Amino acid sequence: MTQKLLFVCLGNICRSPAAEGVFLHLLKQRGLSDQFVVDSAGTGGWHVGNPADRRMTAAANRRGIDLPSRARQISLDDFSSFDLVLTMDNDNLATVKSLAQEAGPNALATVKPMLSYARRFKETEVPDPYYGGEAGFEHVLDLLEDACSNLLDELSPLA
Ligand code: 4NP
Repeated sequence: MTQKLLFVCLGNICRSPAAEGVFLHLLKQRGLSDQFVVDSAGTGGWHVGNPADRRMTAAANRRGIDLPSRARQISLDDFSSFDLVLTMDNDNLATVKSLAQEAGPNALATVKPMLSYARRFKETEVPDPYYGGEAGFEHVLDLLEDACSNLLDELSPLA
């Protein structure tokens, strides 16, 4: 059965496209690409249509990871189209939970913080790297590689 995952941050140009790219990369490595539908979205709409931030893309490319996404804003329909919605920080989590309520009884998606799957790192939020330096983008990828790997370990027996 296909499992449908949506990664969510604020702008959908840094953290959630990176999560999507890291997860897609792991799926390819493990030969599981046809078992999952993966997408990302932002709670805000400022960057709709844009590719991922070039600093995020450059950091991902250095690890052999592509970021194919174009930014879009999360919609109420996403809560019935996706099985699992993974949020990057507590603000995203609160916004997404409130939208899920608004979406009504067909909103069956499970909402979870991305870093609830982290093991190596104890942080609970993926920090927004947008206004910081290069190290922030590397740290986002470190956190996401940890969490995505454990997430896929948990989901792949179901695939
Ligand atoms: P993201 O980072 O939520 O990881 O995509 C941000 C990108 C842009 C903005 C905020 C956060 N912004 O305000 O434009």
